[in-house]
Amino acid sequence: MERLFVVSILFTACCAVPQDLSGKMFTFPVESNVTRARLLPSGNNFTSATVCLRFFTDLTRSYSLFSTASTIQNNDFLIFKPASKGSFHVLTRGQSSNFYDLPDERNTWNSICSTWDSNSGLVQVSLNGNPSTRKIGFKGNLDGELSIVLGQEQDSVDGGFDAKQSFVGMITDVHMWDYVLSDSEIQQFAKDLNFTPGNVINWRALDFTIVGDVVIEDSPNSCQ
Ligand SMILES: *[C@@H]1O[C@H](CO)[C@@H](O)[C@H](O)[C@H]1NC(C)=O
Ligand SMILES: *[C@@H]1O[C@H](CO)[C@@H](O)[C@H](O)[C@H]1NC(C)=O
Repeated sequence: MERLFVVSILFTACCAVPQDLSGKMFTFPVESNVTRARLLPSGNNFTSATVCLRFFTDLTRSYSLFSTASTIQNNDFLIFKPASKGSFHVLTRGQSSNFYDLPDERNTWNSICSTWDSNSGLVQVSLNGNPSTRKIGFKGNLDGELSIVLGQEQDSVDGGFDAKQSFVGMITDVHMWDYVLSDSEIQQFAKDLNFTPGNVINWRALDFTIVGDVVIEDSPNSCQ
């Protein structure tokens, strides 16, 4: 417990300078409505986006993987995992695109990428390199200041958390781009090969703060 505490304080106090978290992961060891990592995006007012990350959990309930809120919408870009296996919901400015039967597994590393394009409104998820159907989402700009949170699902800007939607497990390699990644770039990410780091959120130069018991640890080389 003492170690958790010290690590949390250290990273809460320090974080004006972006950090290279290559080879590291965030461990969320407790279910709570407090514990979270806040990521500072570079830029705002997006016409398209891609978010990719890797996660490891044994949760059987629903949880949030990536929560973005603004004063305009609580679910500006939310990757939400419902309880049923293989289901993922991506919300873009409140509009839910629902995907089923994707090959996620518990107690192992999964990679997920979600793309969104405001012209077509199309949203797609790729789970461990397997693309979903494309479905309709929000058509328009994601403008307004984005509050990005890992570990909790925001029902207001950095608030309104529900422990029963919190993430418990490990997350690494979080990237966000202000464009739609090509299929081959998504494959590269899924295989943990060379890919262009995010220009909005970059795990290798991450601007973040931590609240509560998030532990930063070496990530095992288990992403295939
Ligand atoms: C966002 O960008 C669009 C142009 O792409 C512009 O019309 C709009 O006013 C911008 N929104 C804000 C809040 O700056
Ligand atoms: C966390 O839960 C407690 C007890 O239910 C509640 O009082 C508090 O407002 C919640 N905090 C947040 C940040 O949602």
